[in-house]
Amino acid sequence: MNLALIVLAAGQGTRMKSNLPKVLHKVAGAPLVAHAIRSAEGLDVSKSIVVVGHGADQVEVSLSRDFPEAEVVMQTERLGTAHAVDQAKASLVDFHGDAIVLYGDTPFIKPDTLRRMLAAREDGADVVILGFDAAVPGKYGRLIVEDDRLKRIVEAKDATTDELEVTLCNSGVVCADSAVLFDMIARVDNQNASGEFYLTDIVEIANKAGKSCVAVTCDESETLGINSRPELAKAEAIFQGAFRENAMIEGATLQAPDTVYFSFDTKLGKDVIVEPNVVFGVGVSVDDGANIRAFSHFEDCLVRSGATVGPYARIRPGSDIGVGARIGNFVETKKAIISDGAKVNHLSYIGDAFVGENANVGAGTVTCNYDGVLKHHTNIGAGAFIGTNSSLVAPVRIGDGAMTAAGSVITADVPDDALAVARAPQKNREGFVPRLVQKLKATKAKRDAEKRSED
Ligand code: UD1
Ligand code: CA
Repeated sequence: MNLALIVLAAGQGTRMKSNLPKVLHKVAGAPLVAHAIRSAEGLDVSKSIVVVGHGADQVEVSLSRDFPEAEVVMQTERLGTAHAVDQAKASLVDFHGDAIVLYGDTPFIKPDTLRRMLAAREDGADVVILGFDAAVPGKYGRLIVEDDRLKRIVEAKDATTDELEVTLCNSGVVCADSAVLFDMIARVDNQNASGEFYLTDIVEIANKAGKSCVAVTCDESETLGINSRPELAKAEAIFQGAFRENAMIEGATLQAPDTVYFSFDTKLGKDVIVEPNVVFGVGVSVDDGANIRAFSHFEDCLVRSGATVGPYARIRPGSDIGVGARIGNFVETKKAIISDGAKVNHLSYIGDAFVGENANVGAGTVTCNYDGVLKHHTNIGAGAFIGTNSSLVAPVRIGDGAMTAAGSVITADVPDDALAVARAPQKNREGFVPRLVQKLKATKAKRDAEKRSED
């Protein structure tokens, strides 16, 4: 069966006090709206429509990067949730199948929950609403259920005192046949306390039209919506807590889980050990048995099995750390392939570079990759040995098995197995130091005498 997503993201998010539209604020490195779309991950979605309003251009740019297939439609006036969904109608005229409505500011709905809603549709319900038992029902719409049938949804503002006692609340997620959904929406009016076109009214309308409505429920934690920065931080904490727990269940050791920050897409293999205070930015994969030592920072990179990184390493985008390779303290890599068994153990910058198998890059080595305008590549051969404090001025190639002398500034290619010495030759002056000290002492004595005669 065809499935369409309609994600409501037109809200301004005033309480975020931000120039960024609310749905672009991030949890675990991904915008809220991306989390909302990923609620349907694994479901066979043939069309995703995101209804935008405030900050439409910014939302569109972000979506075109992460979800190029998503369609963006404008809601120019914010007239209510039914009106918002109706903006997707034109995009779905030729669509036959179910539509699921999600909110762009509600990031934690699970794919399984949506699957259960679709199952309820297959069991014959025409309209399926996702509800939850609220600890504090407050302003949520209340689900009025009789004999296992959802009769209507009443917004808190329009509810009687009896209705306000109901704790089964509306999450906002709706699933129905697309044509039925728009048909019901066409009959919604705005005669209510807010003067808005409520999507929730479709339940009563559907019942009157002889259709059946049911509520499927989920845990309240899934329906958490974000309206302010404290709520954003709370959502981040919830995400991190769940991610850490899952990483450990899947076979990674986190020595101090609360100090490790993950992104939504971090991949950790089995028997990975993560020491305290590590940050995984977006796009990081760590293979089985790698050792991630304390205070290291990763972005868009791959750490292969058995490699050791850190403590205090910074692994930047485009880095590929080979099997059993070692990256030590205060080493920064960027667009760098560090082949299997290679070592960069201390105080180095390796950027736009290839480091061959089992090469050893000495302390303080810097690939001078940038000339102020262009970036250039450094190629270090297999088994090469780069002496301490070498500057490798790119573009340059160090041959297989070659060596550079400590302190060298390498500006030309080094052939395989050659030693390159590129530093000023050393001269020793025999007996020079005592003669120098004597001369300096004499100068000082003369100055002291002059000063005394002035006094
Ligand atoms: C809505 C539900 C309520 C439910 C609650 C859950 C209605 C009438 N009420 O209330 O039953 O308990 O969500 O959080 O549906 N939006 C637009 N355009 C609009 C209006 C809203 O895009 O014109 C978007 C908002 O950006 C937001 C979502 O729809 O993401 C919900 O809108 P909001 O105004 O927050 O609805 P609530 O009053 O909280
Ligand atoms: Ca809301």
